[in-house]
Amino acid sequence: MTTPLSILIANPKGGSGKSTLATNLAGHFAWQGEKVALGDLDRQQSARYWLTRRPEQYPHIAEWDIDSDTTPHAPKGTTVALLDSPAGLHGKKLETALKAVCRVLVPVAPSSFDMWALEGFFAQLAEEKTVRKKQVEIGIVGMRVDPRTHAAQQLEHFLAGYGFPVLSWLRNTQLYVQLQPKGLTLFDLPGRRFERDLEQWQAILKWLRNPSSPSI
Ligand SMILES: Nc1ncnc2c1ncn2[C@@H]1O[C@H](COP(=O)(O)OP(=O)(O)OP(=O)(O)O)[C@@H](O)[C@H]1O
Ligand SMILES: [Mg+2]
Repeated sequence: MTTPLSILIANPKGGSGKSTLATNLAGHFAWQGEKVALGDLDRQQSARYWLTRRPEQYPHIAEWDIDSDTTPHAPKGTTVALLDSPAGLHGKKLETALKAVCRVLVPVAPSSFDMWALEGFFAQLAEEKTVRKKQVEIGIVGMRVDPRTHAAQQLEHFLAGYGFPVLSWLRNTQLYVQLQPKGLTLFDLPGRRFERDLEQWQAILKWLRNPSSPSI
């Protein structure tokens, strides 16, 4: 049995886009024919509620039932395991979650509040043995960012100080908000209308498979 591609989506700041990243990635991998399990460490259970809304005719995403105090193990047969997490994840709970994954994606919005909230989080990540040994790779996704703005440049400057790669910028669009209550993702939409948005995900998807691939 091969080890699943296991991904934690985390950021201590609320509303940074964790559940949006987790659910959309689940949709993508389900379309790829992977056996996807989506777990939710958040008491708000956003990802779990989202999953209950998913129409049956779309590629299946399994619910990964987890208890946040013990190291989560993905259900048997899972090939891609996604772990959504609550705002404020840190300390022991972060350490436990890190034991279950080989990738961490951190969605970051271009605001000072978000950047300040990340300082302690990045410091803990950088100290984790599995991160130092590169058993766990960390990647950043700029959320609701227009790369041409001054705010984006400030964010890039801030992130450069930590040495974690910035994989992509996802633009601000109501598309994500509208898809949520339907249990759908960008990857479930037909046609080429959303090509520009799909394009923004490509570098993230490539990095998840191969973290040594170059970032932006
Ligand atoms: N690129 C985007 N463009 C527009 N809206 C977005 C984008 N990404 C996320 N959102 C919206 O922002 C809100 C917060 O996103 P989300 O729930 O994914 O954040 P979160 O980090 O999971 O929040 P929490 O910490 O409360 O769990 C949601 O309503 C979501 O639809
Ligand atoms: Mg959430």
